[in-house]
Amino acid sequence: MTSKAGFASGVIDMLKEDHQKVQGLFEEYESAEGNQRSEIAATAIMELEIHAELEETIIYPAIREEIEEDDLMNEAVEEHHLVHVLIKELKKLKSSDEKFQAKFTVLGELVKHHIKEEEDEMLPKAEKSDIDWEALETTVMKRKEALVSKGMPAGTKKTASKRRG
Ligand SMILES: [Fe+2]
Repeated sequence: MTSKAGFASGVIDMLKEDHQKVQGLFEEYESAEGNQRSEIAATAIMELEIHAELEETIIYPAIREEIEEDDLMNEAVEEHHLVHVLIKELKKLKSSDEKFQAKFTVLGELVKHHIKEEEDEMLPKAEKSDIDWEALETTVMKRKEALVSKGMPAGTKKTASKRRG
């Protein structure tokens, strides 16, 4: 009981760290060139897919249940849908293609907007709700570990971990 807030911030901190990581990758992409660009894009897409999977299958259902904000949750789900559409299209293009760059930039803008809504609206409401954060954290971390070990491409782990000690 006393540690409820601690668990809430554990899950929420993890989400915010992921958000920072992915936004950092979109920024790096802007100033990078050639091969480096395609590596950054591939890492960003992988990070987004893992993050979206966690939110869609575990975190959003838990939040939706508690905050009674269907419009907000439905909008977030639609934004995730657009993220997936763009990712699917990006995967069909060569990263050197002009279209890829335009699409990836639009993806970055969408993600930025989406993250802002989550952090400004959804997560503060979730934080005040009666979610069982301890159970949620256990489920999320376990699933995340499985997704990361399954999906992280070789050589990108340095970008994906250790932001601060
Ligand atoms: Fe999200």
